This record gives sequence, structure tokens and C-alpha cells, in this order.
Amino acid sequence: MTDLQHDPQHDNLPAINDSVSDPGLPAHLWRPTDVDPRLEKRAERQVASLFVLSMVCAVLFLVSYFALKVGDNPTVFLGSGASNVALGLSFGGALLFIGIGVIQWARKLMDDHEIIEMRHPAASPPEDREATLAALSQGTEESGIARRPLIRNTLLGSVTILLAPVVVLLRDLGPLPGDKLESTVWTQGMRVVRDVVGTPIRAADLEIGDLVNAEPEIIFAVDEEGEHVLEGVELQVAKSKAAVILLRMDPDDNTPGPGRENWSVDGILCYSKICTHVGCPISLNERKTHHLLCPCHQSTFDLADAAKVVFGPAARPLPQLPLAVDADGYLVAQSDFTEPVGPSYWGRDSG
Ligand code: FES
Repeated sequence: MTDLQHDPQHDNLPAINDSVSDPGLPAHLWRPTDVDPRLEKRAERQVASLFVLSMVCAVLFLVSYFALKVGDNPTVFLGSGASNVALGLSFGGALLFIGIGVIQWARKLMDDHEIIEMRHPAASPPEDREATLAALSQGTEESGIARRPLIRNTLLGSVTILLAPVVVLLRDLGPLPGDKLESTVWTQGMRVVRDVVGTPIRAADLEIGDLVNAEPEIIFAVDEEGEHVLEGVELQVAKSKAAVILLRMDPDDNTPGPGRENWSVDGILCYSKICTHVGCPISLNERKTHHLLCPCHQSTFDLADAAKVVFGPAARPLPQLPLAVDADGYLVAQSDFTEPVGPSYWGRDSG
């Protein structure tokens, strides 16, 4: 069909240049709270109750933080530590009740009228800005925050008390670690054992090119309180800080750092397994180049050259553990690391 042919289906449509009349807005529907003062008062009390519930949750958060034990033997609840569950539920409740209260306030009590916004150029002229400010003032007036002291005060109370959990959580940034980052449990004569299985390693067990994940054969630790047996979390923390890799290379390939000429045994070297960038465990070894790659951000260390950084964001070489062999032929440490393991930290080199 061409444009000139008659189409009876379109007979009822207005001609193209006919103007379309503005349909206007539908009749305004008043809310129950707009017409019934009793319902309005009830809605006001509901909103205030939600803000009070928020305050109760914030107080429960503080009580949970101090009352529930965190550590070796946490009470388990819903599959998690009771402390975690209580902190999460109480803080979530505090935020949730404030949110619901504000929504109910807007839906039931703030002024309800339709607004027509005309399209206009992007840059607002000064008079529009003044109008915006006036609208903001009007909005504040219409929200009723000045007229409804019960809602205003309970909202202020719930938002203010919500700061307390935030401030209390800052406490978890401490205490400062003191000198705990400066040393590990390695001591003179402590055996190097295979990771997980814990079997000691003879120098003869390793062939050139082998790389083994290893750890100290920890039985005890020595600190300012003397010698004591390590158990549980304390043992796991000690082992994770002291994790090492052992590798064997042709002794002719190795260029020991100054003063480290006797830190290897028949080409067997031992380095910290913790990346000096941000602490990922490393063990991706390229046998031919003796390069060790960190999977997190690709820092690469040359194990044949005192584990110096040859690529990536790490700023320091991997700390090396001086190795020796005990009377039974097993690999042992000559001492602890001579520098802190792991990422850099504020004040690391000040001591
Ligand atoms: S943690 Fe190893 S490169 Fe970032």
C-alpha cells in the first residue's frame, strides 16, 4: 500500500498536525494519615519505635562485643562464632531499623503532592539555584522535622549512638605487635621438616632442581617468659610465620650474598615462603632460571642471587635462613632469620 492509498484502520487517529491535549494529572489520592489525625499519630509512634529499636540494636552490639569470647574456644552459633553472629545481627539491625524508619516516615508522614518538573537547559540560572534552595528549605519544613520533636530526637539519638560501634571497632586495630614481627621460632639446631607431614629432611633426599615446602619442627618457643611448648593457635601462627622453601641447585649456579657463604648445604638453600610484597605464600619455581614467582602480583625473586627481586612490586629480597646439617645428617637452621620475614611495615628497619 502506498502513502496515497486510504487505510480505514487509521480513520480514528488525529491528523499529524492536530495538537494533543494535555491529559493533566489524575486526581490526588489522600493517604489515610493525611485525613485521620489518629492514624497520623500512630504512624509517628511507629517511626519513633523503629528508631528506638535501632538504638537497642546498637547497645546490643556493644554488649556482644565485650561479653562474647573470641579466640581459641568461641561458642558456635549458626555455624559461626557466637560473637560474629551477634555483632553482625545487632549492627545490621541498627542500620536496618533506621532505614525502615526513614522510609516509613517519608511514605506516611511527609507531605505528599505531585511535582511537575519542566525540561530546561543543563546549566541552571541563578534564579533556579535560589529556587532550589527555597525548595530544600520547603522540603525541610514539609518533612516536619521541626514540628515533630519525637521523631527528630529519636532519629538523632539512633544516628548518634550508631557512632559508638564504629568507634569501638577501632579497638580491633590494636594492640601494636611490638617486636613480634621481628623474629620467628627458628633457633639454632631446629630441624627443617616437610610441610604437613612433618618428616625431617636429609640433604641427600633432595636432587638438583627439587623444591620442597617446609616448616620448623616446632616443639617449644623461647620468649621473655622462658621456654614453653606451643599448641593450638599459637603453634599455627608460629608455623605460618616461619614457613620456608628449600631448593637444591648446582652449587656453581649460586651467588651467595655477602656473609652468606656458609648458609647453604651442597647447593641447598632455604628462604622464607612469605612474599615481601603483601605476604602471599610463594612456591612457583622456574627450574632453569631459579626464579621464584609470587602468584599474587607476579613479583619474581632470583633464588640463585640471594633471592633478589628481578620483577614485580616487591621491594625486598626474600629473607634467607642459614642452613646446616646435624649429627644425623638432617637439615637444621643455624639461627633464626637475620631480618623480619613478610611485607614491609612501619618502623621495620628502625631497630
Ligand atoms: S604478594 Fe607477592 S607480589 Fe604481591
